[in-house]
Amino acid sequence: MNVVLVGFMGTGKTVVAKGLSERLDRSYISLDERIVEREGKPINKIFEESGEAYFRDVEKKVTQDISKLEDVVIDAGGGVVKDEENVKSLKHKGIMVCLTARPEVIYERTKHDESRPLLNVNDPKTKIKELLEKRESLYSKADYTIDTSDLTIEEVIERVINIIST
Ligand code: S3P
Repeated sequence: MNVVLVGFMGTGKTVVAKGLSERLDRSYISLDERIVEREGKPINKIFEESGEAYFRDVEKKVTQDISKLEDVVIDAGGGVVKDEENVKSLKHKGIMVCLTARPEVIYERTKHDESRPLLNVNDPKTKIKELLEKRESLYSKADYTIDTSDLTIEEVIERVINIIST
């Protein structure tokens, strides 16, 4: 089975997925990295030049590809759950774990990072709350949820390992 990490930006997916892949001795697969490779430009450039809808199309194609892999750890982008078929494909061969965090924690973790076009706005705090609310029901489709707000990376990794070994 694959381990698929979903969740909002800044909840720790990338760092946890990398740690998990080492602990489990499985390949680390980043959906965002594959999109960037395929398009030959960073995510904010894709959004800027072609718009979000185009990004979601590419995201969907890459999701279909990586869903076919086996025994890997997948670090899925925060918006992958917006498409029902993406969720279905990723769950087909994987246990889906959603990482969450309180909005103020997400803000602190993302405020110096300009690589996320959706949070590159005048009022990121409000944007984070809005998007979290909009996506709440989508993230709840995951098999398990872990609130990372007050946990270390190691603690989150431990919890995921406990989940997948039960
Ligand atoms: C997005 C999250 C980002 C990236 C893109 C859109 C989203 O991934 O895919 O900026 O819609 O939440 P991370 O969650 O890895 O930052």
